[in-house]
Amino acid sequence: MGKFGALLFNVFFTVFILALSFSCKAIDEDRKAYIVYMGALPDGVYTPSTHHFSILQSIIQDSSIAGSFIRSYKRSFNGFAAKLTDQERQKLASMKEIVSIFRSEIFQTQTTRSWDFMGLHEKIDRKPTAESDTIIGVIDTGIWPELESFSDEGFGPPPKKWKGACTGGTNFTCNNKIVRARYYLSFGSGYESARDLVGHGSHTASTAAGNNIKDVSFYGIAEGTARGGVPSSRIAAYKVCDPEGCYSHSILAAFDDAIADGVDIITVSLGSSGAHAFEVDPIAIGSFHAMAKGILTLNSAGNSGPSLQTVSSLAPWLMTVAASSIDRRIISKVSLANGTTIIGSSVNSFKLNETTFPLVHGRNGSTRCSELRARLCEEGFLDRCLVEGTIVLCDRVIGIKEAYRAGALGSISVDGTFSDVSFVSPLPAVTLNQTNYMAIISYLCSTEDPRATILQSETIKDIAAPVVVSFSSRGPNAITPDIMKPDITAPGVDILASYSPVVPPSDSFDDTRRVKYNIMSGTSMSCPHVAGAAAYVKTFHPDWSPSAIKSALMTTAFIMNDTDHPNKEFDHGSGHVNPTTAINPGLVYESSEVDYVAFLCSIGYDDVKVRRISGDNSTCPKSSEEGSSPRYLNYPSMTAQVPAGKPFMVRFPRRVTYVGDGNSTYTARILPKLKLHIKVTPSVFSFQSLGEEKSFDVIVKGKGLSDNSIVSTSLVWTDRFHNVRSPIVLHSLFST
Ligand SMILES: *[C@@H]1O[C@H](CO)[C@@H](O)[C@H](O)[C@H]1NC(C)=O
Ligand SMILES: *[C@@H]1O[C@H](CO)[C@@H](O)[C@H](O)[C@H]1NC(C)=O
Ligand SMILES: *[C@@H]1O[C@H](CO)[C@@H](O)[C@H](O)[C@H]1NC(C)=O
Ligand SMILES: *[C@@H]1O[C@H](CO)[C@@H](O)[C@H](O)[C@H]1NC(C)=O
Ligand SMILES: *[C@@H]1O[C@H](CO)[C@@H](O)[C@H](O)[C@H]1NC(C)=O
Ligand SMILES: *[C@@H]1O[C@H](CO)[C@@H](O)[C@H](O)[C@H]1NC(C)=O
Ligand SMILES: *[C@@H]1O[C@H](CO)[C@@H](O)[C@H](O)[C@H]1NC(C)=O
Ligand SMILES: *[C@@H]1O[C@H](CO)[C@@H](O)[C@H](O)[C@H]1NC(C)=O
Repeated sequence: MGKFGALLFNVFFTVFILALSFSCKAIDEDRKAYIVYMGALPDGVYTPSTHHFSILQSIIQDSSIAGSFIRSYKRSFNGFAAKLTDQERQKLASMKEIVSIFRSEIFQTQTTRSWDFMGLHEKIDRKPTAESDTIIGVIDTGIWPELESFSDEGFGPPPKKWKGACTGGTNFTCNNKIVRARYYLSFGSGYESARDLVGHGSHTASTAAGNNIKDVSFYGIAEGTARGGVPSSRIAAYKVCDPEGCYSHSILAAFDDAIADGVDIITVSLGSSGAHAFEVDPIAIGSFHAMAKGILTLNSAGNSGPSLQTVSSLAPWLMTVAASSIDRRIISKVSLANGTTIIGSSVNSFKLNETTFPLVHGRNGSTRCSELRARLCEEGFLDRCLVEGTIVLCDRVIGIKEAYRAGALGSISVDGTFSDVSFVSPLPAVTLNQTNYMAIISYLCSTEDPRATILQSETIKDIAAPVVVSFSSRGPNAITPDIMKPDITAPGVDILASYSPVVPPSDSFDDTRRVKYNIMSGTSMSCPHVAGAAAYVKTFHPDWSPSAIKSALMTTAFIMNDTDHPNKEFDHGSGHVNPTTAINPGLVYESSEVDYVAFLCSIGYDDVKVRRISGDNSTCPKSSEEGSSPRYLNYPSMTAQVPAGKPFMVRFPRRVTYVGDGNSTYTARILPKLKLHIKVTPSVFSFQSLGEEKSFDVIVKGKGLSDNSIVSTSLVWTDRFHNVRSPIVLHSLFST
């Protein structure tokens, strides 16, 4: 169930399908696209393109390099993309100027009420001038510039610092709201425009920084005001997806430009499946160089939950965002002809006027002989003459697609895992949990003429919200289990935001509806919420480092209503984003490039590699008596993987920077109390002036954790006005 269900939820289904149909184009059979990453740009006179060509020339024997070269990275870091044979790749790998070579792969892309729910109400305290000087870089599927969310009415010219030009291409004009647009074609040809032909990029950009638009809805559903987190900020849109896919080499090119253009925050609602080492992960590489230039990157955790260790955004300089529910849920009801009403999930805009229609189970809607496959409504298994004018029951969510293809009037399906999210479908449809689906099956068997109707969706108040949604990818971190991922959670379920008006709101190409606002779910939707929150914090503290902004958001995140859930930190990291508190965190945990280099050393990078990556003469710190560890990074959360059944003692050295004013005294508290022995030294600090730094150690001792277990508590530094909270998590998951 999981895999197929997840595919349907994947908001980038469209791109994925297109990618499959284009991939048979004959391009140099044995050459594949690679990224050759060469670290930071060297100081002094250097012409990257010339260097890249000469490297390429030296390893390509036959023909010209024109057929191989794809693009250079030369504005913010060094490297290039090229199509290479396996032999050529091996030759390159041995060159000393190269940090890593890796295949360019296809990344997948992974609201009105949501901002109120986060406490960022329309009338909160804002810094209008600073907000209007803030530019959010959105690396996505492009943008539809004529949408109301992106109108520049009331906007003056972009801030003077801005260096980006508008190169949106065909039929694309920037304005004072969208101050930059650029597109990257995977392999040199295609639609030469930054215009969004998918909908995802317009949705994420408007969630982060769209204008306030009153009275919008999806066919009357989820009616309210659509607005971004920082409605006065500007948007720079970098379109990295084309029908061939969202390739690593295009994503990296967008980082190269966004950093050099001078964006303030970067948001990337894209991810690949599985964990990648940092030097072969384009988002980790791009965001490292962004961090070095003072830019925080937000990245979606992924939609591969609820299994553990599924989060794919893992670098500590990134801020990784999980998805949770908001207090407004969208539901749909099935009304049976016997008078019973059953509740399920879907975003159903269709009105069936309460007329009932015959109910047919998939197994009775097929003349094919595999009953099992017909029950699931597998592709090609339903017969039009048996299902036309009926509501078809399918034993699997993906069956909705087949019901639609076969001309059914409606569809009812079951999903045991993902019943906490609603999706737009091209026909009246509803997805039920196991219990409710079985009730319909029992009704079906109890009568000669089973009939039902599906009602238009309505919204209900969800008192349990926020909870992390099933599809949100979970920790622990597969590369560095001692760095907590995800970092934070934000609204990502049933979010209404702007959409491309030329594509269907559902996954179906032949859905003829067109909308300017659509309801979508995913960590793709939660990521720009935190980008908006980070930009909001930055408007109050323009000089804060990326790690200070990240720390402020993490240490002020509120604890979720899921206290009985054993893996809670691996669901939501530090908790739920709380932007208004984050502007005044009291203390921050800061890490600079030097700290991240020490972190890279602690996981096995040598002097040569860290120098290439940092572009300076960094060396790995001489290892101290106890060696180095990723736990020593000054991270705003504290996590350690320990072997099961053995006594342990772990140390988390940390330092905090005072960002309040006047004298104040902070005391350390461990809340709630645990059986583990936790000592914080020193446990009281007095601060006199802004920017003052204090170091401390957290030492955790225990007799041993049981297999696959997790224990957690929090360290809270408090001066009675601020509570600076860091989760402390010890776990024996995936430890051998
Ligand atoms: C050009 O942009 C307009 C919106 O201003 C849009 O309606 C139209 O479809 C676009 N044309 C093409 C060829 O993409
Ligand atoms: C429901 O009623 C509306 C307006 O009366 C009509 O346009 C629509 O076709 C009807 N739908 C169905 C499924 O009968
Ligand atoms: C549906 O199919 C099942 C099994 O193939 C059969 O037992 C049942 O009678 C059929 N129901 C109808 C209404 O045709
Ligand atoms: C299914 O949803 C109903 C509410 O509509 C709830 O009472 C029931 O417990 C749920 N069952 C499962 C297995 O989640
Ligand atoms: C209608 O069918 C459902 C499902 O089988 C059942 O739970 C309910 O009691 C029935 N209602 C009536 C009024 O018979
Ligand atoms: C937590 O959720 C429960 C329902 O699951 C609800 O009754 C309770 O009010 C919630 N508590 C908070 C603090 O939101
Ligand atoms: C590193 O570079 C700086 C300035 O570029 C220089 O002052 C310093 O001595 C160098 N350190 C080493 C160890 O080479
Ligand atoms: C802050 O503390 C310092 C040293 O304890 C003291 O000299 C100073 O007067 C205090 N300032 C205020 C505003 O209380």
